[in-house]
Parts: sequence; structure tokens; C-alpha cells
Amino acid sequence: MNRTQLTTTADLTREEVDFLIKEAESMREARHTDDLKGKVVATLFFEPSTRTRLSFESAAARLGASIIGVADASTTSTKKGETLADTIQVFDKLADIVVMRQPTSGAAEEVIKYTKKPFVNGGDGANQHPSQALLDTYTIHREAGAIDGKTIAFVGDLKYGRTVHSLLYLVSLYDIKVVFVSPEELKISEKYTNLLKERGVEYEETEDLSEAVKKSDIIYMTRIQAERFEDPREYDKLKGCYILDANLVKQGKESLKVLHPLPRVDEIATDVDELPQAAYFRQVENGLYMRMGLLKYLSSNYNE
Ligand code: NCD
Repeated sequence: MNRTQLTTTADLTREEVDFLIKEAESMREARHTDDLKGKVVATLFFEPSTRTRLSFESAAARLGASIIGVADASTTSTKKGETLADTIQVFDKLADIVVMRQPTSGAAEEVIKYTKKPFVNGGDGANQHPSQALLDTYTIHREAGAIDGKTIAFVGDLKYGRTVHSLLYLVSLYDIKVVFVSPEELKISEKYTNLLKERGVEYEETEDLSEAVKKSDIIYMTRIQAERFEDPREYDKLKGCYILDANLVKQGKESLKVLHPLPRVDEIATDVDELPQAAYFRQVENGLYMRMGLLKYLSSNYNE
């Protein structure tokens, strides 16, 4: 438990996740601390983002840090042809903690070759989005009272959805069951079904959302990741393939909770929003406290 950098959820332990959930809970109580007073947090987002970047910035501000950052790749030297290696070596000198989002899978692993400073992967292509997975796990814990014993359905774009990939590593540390709901073209890859097999987690794959709703405790909806499709016609064919509406939610258990990393397009109808099952806006608030806990954890392990 002396981590300073988080690029992937693949090597997080249950002990660490449980510790971070406790940290998030204590941040919820504190709301403001001075754990990062005098530190500079850089948020470098080279791919569109609103909530992840602003959630990290709000978290850093509430910890007393100052924030510098990039919200639009087109205004940076990357546009002039600067390499990722050079960009990170510059920010290594300017900031105490770096949060970075990149469109390329594997970019985060590449970046940490050039910096020892605390670092968080804010999403690298279709690969990983570890802070989202931590806040999703925290949300399941809060909404369902526990993670052990729950059946979690992952719905939508399981092929390109990095939040699904990261979250599978975390929830499979617990005693759970998984239902994958997707069209054939967006199926979860073998990499992740093999992970579940290795960790002894029971799972099934289906195309039938209403079946999954009836048997689950948690529905994790995702957006079809338009930006990852090579052929836009393929996206047009698949968009709107699953829509969760209030009628469907009411067919599930009363204790069912619906999560979504947001932004949503049309995969959750707005008539779900007013139901107690809709947890996705509470999930955003949980993200703030989890990111406060995470920034504190990573920077407290770092010795200059
Ligand atoms: C997700 C992402 O960027 O992967 N959004 C987020 O961070 N809250 C999900 C998505 O864009 O569909």
C-alpha cells in the first residue's frame, strides 16, 4: 500500500480498494481539508472530458491544492508535434501530481516511464479509467450496502468501454456474479472473461436486457463509444441498441440500482431519473470524494 501512481486497476488489491472506500467516506464528512496545501495538480486532458477533469479539479481544490491544466489538445504543443514523453517530462517539473487523459490505449504505461511523481490515468483510449472504477465500486458499496453477494449487469458497449474494463478488475475482487448484456459486435473480450474465470467469478452473456434487469442488483449502463468506431456506419447500426426506461427498471428488484459513468446519450430514458433506483447523479458526487481520497493517498506515499 505505498502506491504513488495509478495507471490501471489490474494490480489493485481488495485491501487497497477497501482502504480507498474508507478514505472517500472520510472525505465526504470533511468536505475540505488541507492535505494538498501548497501542491500543484496538473490536469492534462488530450481527449474530450468534462466531468472527469472537473471532478479531479474540484477534488484538488477541496484538498487545498492549486490547479494547472489543459482541457483542449488543440491549444497545446502536442499540436506542434511534441511527443508524449516530452510533454510529461515538462509537467514533471511544473506539477506535484499529474492527471492525464490520452486517446491511445496504453499511453499511461508509457507516460510513467518518464515520471516518478504521483500520476493518475484519467482514461487511455479504450483501455483503462481507474479512478472511474474506484468511484463506481464505492457507489456500489454505498447504494447496495455491500459488494459481496451482488449480481452486477454490464450493459452496452463492453468492447470499447474503458470504464467497464477497469471496473471488472475491482468488482472481481469481491464475491459477485456478472451478467454481460451487449450486441454480438460489442461483446466483452476474452481478456476479461478469462480474468473472471481466473478469479472464480461466475458470469453469463446475453443480448436480453429485460432478463438481466430481473436478476440483477446493479445495472451498469454504458454509452456506445462512437469515437472508437473505425467505420461510422457500424456505429449507426448499433446506436440506441439498449434503452433502459422506467417501465423496465420497475420490472427489477425494488432494491435495484442503476449506475452510469456519464455522459449518457439515449441509453437511459429520462423517466428513470426520478426513481430511487437512479444512482448516476449520486455517483458523480461519490466520484468527488473518491478522487479526494485517491489524490491524498498517492501524494502521501511520495517522497521527493
Ligand atoms: C467515461 C469515459 O470517459 O470513459 N466518462 C467518464 O469518464 N465519466 C464514459 C464515457 O465516455 O462513455
